Amino acid sequence: MTDGSLGFIHRFEPGPDAAHPLLLLHGTGGNEADLVPLGRMLAPDAALLSPRGAVSENGMPRFFRRLAEGVFDEADLRRRTGDLAGFVAAARDRYGLGAPVALGFSNGANIAAALLMLQPETLAGAVLIRPMVPFAEPPAADLAGRPVLILSGAMDPIVPVENARRLAAQLSAAGAQVEHRILPAGHGLSQADLDRAADWLRDLEIPHAA
Ligand code: MLT
Repeated sequence: MTDGSLGFIHRFEPGPDAAHPLLLLHGTGGNEADLVPLGRMLAPDAALLSPRGAVSENGMPRFFRRLAEGVFDEADLRRRTGDLAGFVAAARDRYGLGAPVALGFSNGANIAAALLMLQPETLAGAVLIRPMVPFAEPPAADLAGRPVLILSGAMDPIVPVENARRLAAQLSAAGAQVEHRILPAGHGLSQADLDRAADWLRDLEIPHAA
């Protein structure tokens, strides 16, 4: 059920594994309902926390403003990343959750990457589907041991593979354990994304105390 409290319109779907929830972050034009079936399929036992991006671009929800496609309003991105971190902290309190693994698609993957760089303690790890570099200058972060799966599309017309490689390098340099797969896909989700994300999440080992 959709809930308007905690600063973000969101859905919370309980699951037997509240220690390892997924934070679902939709793409431009999506909403809090979009990724719930995907999250349930990829992590059948996980509690699911799914906020709606608070920015509207011509009626399409997003998690932060952009100046043009692929050109981000970095000041807004910083502010919205802080807002999202505050929401996650409040939701963990309310719902009794461990630190979540983000599952972000496109715009949602980009704010997940910003969260990793600016508020690394917010996430236990992340699956970033079709992300790009969020900041022109990467903020210094300590991501020691944080597992991150990046899934890029070789034919993605929005995110050049070189850009995704730069993001992988930035996160690795900050200490994250990055796996970067370049799939035979465009910007949209493919079966190969689902297969790899499901296996990666299943094999993930996160301490319960995270
Ligand atoms: C973004 O604005 O975050 C990226 O261009 C991806 C998108 O939402 O199209």
